[in-house]
Amino acid sequence: MRRFLVVGHRASTSPEFPLDDLAGGAGRMDLLLTAANAALLVAHDVRRDSEAILLLLGPPDPPRAVRLVGDRLQSYGPDIRGNAGLIRKALFHGSRLERETSPGVFASRRGLPEVLEAIPEPVVHLREDGKDIREVELPRDVAFVLSDSADLSGEEEAVVARRRIAVGAVGPRSLHTSDTIAIVHNELDRRHRG
Ligand SMILES: C[S@@+](CC[C@H](N)C(=O)[O-])C[C@H]1O[C@@H](n2cnc3c(N)ncnc32)[C@H](O)[C@@H]1O
Repeated sequence: MRRFLVVGHRASTSPEFPLDDLAGGAGRMDLLLTAANAALLVAHDVRRDSEAILLLLGPPDPPRAVRLVGDRLQSYGPDIRGNAGLIRKALFHGSRLERETSPGVFASRRGLPEVLEAIPEPVVHLREDGKDIREVELPRDVAFVLSDSADLSGEEEAVVARRRIAVGAVGPRSLHTSDTIAIVHNELDRRHRG
C-alpha cells in the first residue's frame, strides 16, 4: 500500500464549506482534492493500492483527518467538486473514532501525531531540500508526508521527524503537492512493476 498524508493548514473543517469556492472560502481545499486525485487515480481507474489521508487544520473545528482508501472507493472520479461533497459528508462525523462515512472514505477527529502514529512504517517526508528519492530505498509498502502551500511548522516538523526514515526530494524545483505525488507514483511504478 502507498499512503500519502497531506497536511492542509487552512483547509476548512466545516461540513458546509463552499463547493463553489474551494480555493478561497474552503481554505485551499482544491489543493488537497487535487493531491488526493494524484494519489488515487490513473486513467479510467482508481489505484487500488493507494490511500490519501487529508489532514484538515483550518477553522472552525480542527483537527480532522479524512482517509480515502483506493480499494474501497466508489463514486470517486476526477471531478474535485464532486469529491468535495464526500469530504463535506465526512466532516459531519466529529468523533475521534474513525468511521466510514461513504464507501472508502473514513473520517475522524485526529491531529498529525495520532494520524502518523497509525500509519505503518516506513514514512518518507517529501520536502524540496531532501535527498534525491532516486537514491532512497522505497519498498512497495511506504508512506509519504507532504504539505500544502505552506511549509510544515516547527512543531509539525518535529512530529514528522520522530517517525520518518528519510527526507526525500523529487527534483530541484518546488512543485505543487499533486505533481510531487505523481512523480513519486511514477518512481514506484517503475521500481515495482506488476
Ligand atoms: C507548493 S510546495 C510547498 C510550498 C513551498 N515550500 C513554498 O515555499 O512556498 C507543496 C509541497 O509539495 C512537496 N514538494 C514540492 N516540491 C517538492 C520537491 N521538489 N521534492 C519533494 N517534495 C516537494 C512538499 O511536501 C511541499 O511542502
